[in-house]
Amino acid sequence: MSRLLAPLPQQPEDQILKLMRLYAEDARPGKIDLGVGVYRNAQGQTPVMRAVKAAEQQLWEAQQTKGYTGLTGDPGFHQAMTGLVLGDPFDRTRVAAAASVGGTGALHTAAELIRAANPQARIWLPDPTWPNHAPIVDHVGLARRGYRYFDAATGAADPSAMLEDLSATGPGDVVLLHGCCHNPTGADLALPDWQALAELLARTGATPLIDLAYLGFGDGIEADAAGTRLLATALPEVLIAASCSKNFGLYRERAGVLLTVTPDAKARARVQENLAALNRMNFSFPPDHGARLVSMILDDPALRADWQDELDGMRAGITGLRQQLAAALRDRSGSDRFGFLADNRGMFSRLGASPEQVEALRRDHAVYMVGDSRMNIAGLTPQDVPRLAEAILDAGI
Ligand code: LMR
Repeated sequence: MSRLLAPLPQQPEDQILKLMRLYAEDARPGKIDLGVGVYRNAQGQTPVMRAVKAAEQQLWEAQQTKGYTGLTGDPGFHQAMTGLVLGDPFDRTRVAAAASVGGTGALHTAAELIRAANPQARIWLPDPTWPNHAPIVDHVGLARRGYRYFDAATGAADPSAMLEDLSATGPGDVVLLHGCCHNPTGADLALPDWQALAELLARTGATPLIDLAYLGFGDGIEADAAGTRLLATALPEVLIAASCSKNFGLYRERAGVLLTVTPDAKARARVQENLAALNRMNFSFPPDHGARLVSMILDDPALRADWQDELDGMRAGITGLRQQLAAALRDRSGSDRFGFLADNRGMFSRLGASPEQVEALRRDHAVYMVGDSRMNIAGLTPQDVPRLAEAILDAGI
């Protein structure tokens, strides 16, 4: 008897999730997990943030119904996230919004919205980028192009190569950008680069799609949002996929939002109704629990201050680990070739190791990083730093 599902292809295992599995299976004590992008504190834990706990308690006491919200989620969440990402003075009548199933869900909805508007759109992805970007674009059937972004020799962004490649974009094209804390390199654009990018996009007519998954992990909310805000002010249309997984520690609650900046209120209304229709076809109503916690925290001055304080501490921890690791490698190698680790921002840096060296780190030292040598610095504890530095040099990197 023929079977409907028999022809399904075997799926390649996602490299980041595979690493999570291998790490869990490794019985060696002292193993170091620099794989998946999850924050860990100095004790190696991923805590529920204090403000989240407090908001959950309030919600448990006050919530009287689990009835549906709206097809695009709770408007209070849209407002709170618009304020956080775009700043309070931003003209909200320009912003359509839909709560999403985490940041990935926002990216997926964005891709579907783009396809609905222009099936010929080409999505320009930075090289390198988060390994899930290309599959999402391919899955919705849009064409994609790549643009140069990173200078492996310096460990920094390469804005002139980026601008040169993006000068080939045109109206109907979409340029995917990392708002801050570039994944996988931690190499960010400076504000003048964002300015140059805004001018280029205004000239070519391409639309930015900003993946904003690590807001607050680089230099603070305002600094991390500055590039996104600059584009949203300078251009008629900007799509922003914002995640609350990392900065609110809400990973499993899948809280995120797609913010769509439009030219005016009329355009906003049309986008909003299309976002509602896409949600209805995909899953009807987005999850509310995590989103509601976020808006409760952002709308309550005391909860917000506590959240901000804890987030600042997390960021300081990551920045401190970056400096410690760069210093430990400088002392042991007698060279400055790892100095970029202190300059990069957010959870990730790309070490610049070969796949064989990455494999040797795992085999000989129980150090886990993604095959392209992306390290999640937030996976380190201060005690691990000397051992990691020695392992990196022992692997010949
Ligand atoms: C990562 O890049 O490790 C995170 O964004 C988690 C994920 O889903 O891949």
